[in-house]
Amino acid sequence: ADEGMWIPMLIGKNYDQMKKQGFKLTPEDLYNINKASIKDAIVSLGGGFCTGEVVSNKGLVFTNHHCGYEAISANSTPQNDILDNGFYAKSYAEEKPIPGLFVQFLVRMEDVTPQITAALQGATEANRGEKLEEVKNRLIADATKSTGYEGAVKDFFDGNQYFLYLYETYNDVRLVGAPPQSIGKFGGDTDNWEWPRHTGDFSIFRIYSGKDGKPATYSADNVPLVPKKFLPVSIKGVKNGDFAMVYGYPGHTDRFLTSNGVRLATEETNPVIVKLRDIRLKAWKEEMNKSIDTRLKLSSKYAEIANYWKYFIGQTEQLKQLDIYDQKLKEEAEFTQWAADKPAYAGLMDSYKKLYAAYEPYAIHRTFVEEGLLAPGFVYNTLVTYNILRSLAARKDDAKAVEELKKDLKEVNDSYVNNYNEIADKKIFAQIMATYYAGVPKDQHPQFIEDIVKKYNGATVEESFTKFADELWSKSIVINPDKFKEFMKNPSIEVLGNDPACQYARQVSPRAYARNAFGSKVSDFEEQKEKLDKIYLKALLEKNQGRLMYPDANSTMRISYGNVQDYASKDGKHYNINTNLDEVMKKYKPGDSEFDLPSSLIDAYKKKDFGQYAVDGTVPVCFITNDDITGGNSGSPVINGNGELIGLAFDGNWEAMSGDIAFDKKYKRTICVDIRYVLWCMDKLGHADNLISELEIHKN
Ligand code: ARG
Repeated sequence: ADEGMWIPMLIGKNYDQMKKQGFKLTPEDLYNINKASIKDAIVSLGGGFCTGEVVSNKGLVFTNHHCGYEAISANSTPQNDILDNGFYAKSYAEEKPIPGLFVQFLVRMEDVTPQITAALQGATEANRGEKLEEVKNRLIADATKSTGYEGAVKDFFDGNQYFLYLYETYNDVRLVGAPPQSIGKFGGDTDNWEWPRHTGDFSIFRIYSGKDGKPATYSADNVPLVPKKFLPVSIKGVKNGDFAMVYGYPGHTDRFLTSNGVRLATEETNPVIVKLRDIRLKAWKEEMNKSIDTRLKLSSKYAEIANYWKYFIGQTEQLKQLDIYDQKLKEEAEFTQWAADKPAYAGLMDSYKKLYAAYEPYAIHRTFVEEGLLAPGFVYNTLVTYNILRSLAARKDDAKAVEELKKDLKEVNDSYVNNYNEIADKKIFAQIMATYYAGVPKDQHPQFIEDIVKKYNGATVEESFTKFADELWSKSIVINPDKFKEFMKNPSIEVLGNDPACQYARQVSPRAYARNAFGSKVSDFEEQKEKLDKIYLKALLEKNQGRLMYPDANSTMRISYGNVQDYASKDGKHYNINTNLDEVMKKYKPGDSEFDLPSSLIDAYKKKDFGQYAVDGTVPVCFITNDDITGGNSGSPVINGNGELIGLAFDGNWEAMSGDIAFDKKYKRTICVDIRYVLWCMDKLGHADNLISELEIHKN
């Protein structure tokens, strides 16, 4: 295949095809619960935002630079700026603890569909949800009992199958190394989501355990983890057609979305997301350009917003370019024909159509709330603080709950105090409100928004929101991070409840919206859609019986396999499978925020100090495969037919940005940083001999 995010436990079904494509190992080498297998070298980071792989017997982990970005920037100051200058620990003592970061190993997974189906037998519409929660919790409790593992039950094919997952979680994870961001993020937003690419998108972490090898909270006495399995590295190189697979944690795809959903995205919601992000990005950039301190504080969040800003532009463009709407319509017509004599499915496409028609007038409003009203950073911090303070009061006798709540509160508050920029946020506040006011149908405006406009009698809408912002920013004690910190020394729920910023936040909160007329339209839609989706997928499973079918990504471990492969764009331009250091140098723009390069790289390039990583007088930088990945896969190992690490997956190409909704075999490519570039940067630029010597490097 190439398309497909397969379930590791069931990978045996794909084995014949994998062999044909060049896979030399066995399914048991990939997933085995009785002895170490490749799955034991793969970790999900921080609950699934990225993937990493263990590469040494001392718990060393490789992932992407953009996955380590927050940890790297949080450890950067204008005086010790490791984001811009790079950093390689020369000893364990120099490795930097990252509070809050954790990794999870998959211990095992199990199909629990029979148990769940049995438990739901006889359930009614009204108690089904509750019963489902009950059986899930029971299955998790039984499986984790006296193990220290964490459990989760996930549904597949929109509720037609269930798998139980057991994870072992390690909380002491330390930053070990990263190149300067001029390498790790080379090309910036200009090159993001595009091939050809020249980014050294890697960073390095280490997992620590207690002396017994078991998970332990951070302690100076913890020791580097001795993993069950680590990946050897191959510097032999890749060529067109070589087998390549990606093993990791894809987050979310929507491959069974109907034509209705495609149209809603391209015509209605995606453009709103892009418009609102434009406002944020422009205001933030202005502030970031003013001081290095502000830049370091906002960089990580900025990169996150910009990444998906461009994603939605590309998704819209390619859904149209590749005629995904028409393609889906055709599939649906064929489905309806097949379903004509099956009463359970015959009217399904009509039901979808009606459902979307009723929802459409509200879909835009929803996007304006999620991407607009909730976007100013103080809103989230204030809401979390308010809600947790209330829970703390209500549960003050439950010591364990209090401890958990305090921990959550501290994490959110710390990130606010350390990274919030009130000037940047104030700039966007009135603009976002005004954009909301103009973009959301007037009959859907909640009262409090109209009240703001009325309050400043005579002012224009835009002026009213500006005045409102002035008022919030001058009167509130929870927007300014210093004042907020002061308030939190002795927090009072009454004081917070009376704060104008808190009152505003509570009015735009998801909870307030759930109660207004508009919010219920959204939840009705979600509820109905979930039901239709479950029926649709049941039907598709039936229709495709005997054929291999993979479920949508849902942040569980998957394998995608295929080959290193070149491609030609629609207008006939041919793209090679790899890029190299000479091309990096051609893109070099001294002092540029996206295309600058560190002097270490330029020096090594001039001296041709390429060591064992050279091919044809240059260093390979990135390559492409036809594997099937999405967000969450970032940092995943790209593994050759022998089980060796040949690169890290970090992106997709522009021509196939519709990929999360429809995989295009002709154009979709996974962009990987070549492991030889990673090692060259560590070795020749970073002089990280201590780390290089930990790796098991295969030359042939
Ligand atoms: N587009 C990549 C992804 O989501 C992230 C690339 C990070 N680089 C950047 N310039 N923002 O997987």
